[in-house]
Formats: sequence, C-alpha cells, structure tokens
Amino acid sequence: MRWRDGRLELIDQRLLPAQVTFVACSSAQEVASAIRDMVVRGAPAIGCAAACGIALEAQRLKDASPAAFASGMDGAFSALAASRPTAVNLFWALERMRSTIAAARQARPAEIAARALEEANRIVVEDVAANRAMGAHGAVLIEDGARVLTHCNAGALATAGHGTALGVIRSAVAAGKRLSVIVDETRPFLQGARLTAWELMQDGIPVTLITDNMSGHLMSRREVDAVIVGADRVAANGDVANKIGTYMVAVLARRHGIPFYVAAPLSTIDLKLASGDAIPIEERGASEVLGHAGIEWAPKGIGVRNPAFDVTPAELVTALITEKGIVREPDQGKIAALFSR
Ligand code: MRU
Repeated sequence: MRWRDGRLELIDQRLLPAQVTFVACSSAQEVASAIRDMVVRGAPAIGCAAACGIALEAQRLKDASPAAFASGMDGAFSALAASRPTAVNLFWALERMRSTIAAARQARPAEIAARALEEANRIVVEDVAANRAMGAHGAVLIEDGARVLTHCNAGALATAGHGTALGVIRSAVAAGKRLSVIVDETRPFLQGARLTAWELMQDGIPVTLITDNMSGHLMSRREVDAVIVGADRVAANGDVANKIGTYMVAVLARRHGIPFYVAAPLSTIDLKLASGDAIPIEERGASEVLGHAGIEWAPKGIGVRNPAFDVTPAELVTALITEKGIVREPDQGKIAALFSR
C-alpha cells in the first residue's frame, strides 16, 4: 500500500498475478469496501489499511466543524469495523487510531487529522519492523536445505512489507539457508497459488505449488521438513485462527512429527479471548466455492458452506514466532509473559 496524491493506493490482490493494478481510495468507506472485497487482505495488511482509512477520512473532514468531524469519524470507525470479522489486527489498529484521536480531541480537526496520519504511518512502519524481527527470530528454527510448506499468503502482500511466515522464509534465505517452499493453492480464494507463488518467484526462492489435498501425501513421503503459517487471531491460550485448511495441515504435521510454526505479531494476539472457540469465523459467499472467475462447476441450487478460517488448537503448535521472540509450545502463561518481555 502507498500514498499517492493524498489517496491510499492498494495493489488489487484479486487480480494478481495476471495484473499488477492499484485501487485508489479517498475515504474510509472506500477502504472498508477494499477490505471486504479482498482488494487488500491478510491480517496485518487489513490493520494497516484500516488505520490509513481513518487517517484518510480525517483528512477529508479536516475543514468540517468539530461536530461534523466527530460524527463523520464515528461513521468511518463503524464502516471499517464491519468490513471483516476474524483478523484482530483490524480492531487493534482501529483502537490505536481511536486513542490517538481521543487524545487530540481538544485540537482543531485539521490538527487531529495530522496526528491521525502520523499514527497510521507509525502503524505501517512498526509492522515492517515487527516482520523483520520475526524473520530474524524465526530463521533460526529453519534448517539449511529445509523443504517448508506454507498455507495461504502470509507474505509482503498480507502485511506492510516482508511478511510474517514468508518473512521468516525470506530472512532464513538472506541468512544463507537454502530453502525450498511448498505452497498449498489455498481453496477457495487461491491466495497460495496466486499470491505466495508470485511473491516467492519474484524473490527467486524455489517454490512448488500443490493443491490443498496433496500435503498429507508429501508429508507421508518425508518431503516436508517444516510447516510455517501466519495467523488472523491468536487467543490468549495460543489457539490460532488462520486461513481455512490450516487446521488440517497442523493435524497432518503432528501425525508425521513435522514442526508446525505460526509467525504472528503481537497485534494478532487477542488476550481478551480465552480460547479459539470464541474467535469469530467469517463465512463468505457461496460463489467462491461454486466456481472461480466466472466459471461455475457445481450444480445449480446446491447448498454451500464457506467458512474462511479455522482454528488450530495450541497443542498442535510447535512454536509461535513473534517480534518479541519465540514461544515454544504456547499456552496461556507463556503468552501472557510474552507481553511483559
Ligand atoms: O482471507 P485472507 O486472505 O485475508 O486470509 C489471510 C490469512 O489467513 C493469512 O494467513 C493471515 O492473515 C496471516 S497474514 C500475515
């Protein structure tokens, strides 16, 4: 994401890798639509975009009366909060923006808008720094020559830059480790086949694409040495919500004695939720399951479920990689301690 002429430009992830096109947003409503429609996706990227959406709206209303500014900003927060339910980074970023605006409430709207923009930019810069720190911590866990399986896209596209799971892979490669990546295609939105494959190929990191139902076979043939994924929300006990299909991969990894790592910044950890059972799971429309890109392969009238995320219990997580360090076999006590490190 980038600022151009006072607008927020988001790379349109729905069109990758066929086209690299940007969608320009001029209001919080437009950013909310971009999040809902998956122009921008991935938990940290959603949080960063939402923060920029608030900054954008504040700029747009900076010459309004204080009352009109306040009510316009309330609308902006509501629209962004309703865009997608699972990634907690969205709510975390909105909370930071709300506190910044509340702390400046005595100032003129133009001054509040300036502070909102600074805070949004800080959130973006901090996200890249967190990813680099995660990369440095996590790289140690990946052995030279490892064949690493990942699910969905937890790369630069899903963050402000570098990536979480792909950030660890990038940092390990930068440290001289020769890695190859196996990427699940990630039905139904194909984040793996379209986005992760594209990112890794651009970096020259060897990558092999499989469909989601092939990982068990490869694991049983000892062709996977480690699994690393990102997260949309980690509960206080270490349960991890991530892209649908992650849970299956974690179960398979345990069956085959393969380490299962989750890379996620502290902004993805929700201490308010005791366990993964309380994590809201987004259900998306039927069209993503019925077909793709205008082609429908299922019979008309069929019932469809489309949960976009699943929850992997903490007991299946070998280690949680964060910007503050690695938490092995995460549980409630270790996660609480992480916040005071
Ligand atoms: O539906 P998406 O594409 O927003 O889901 C994204 C994921 O599940 C990612 O793995 C997660 O957000 C981590 S991104 C660093």
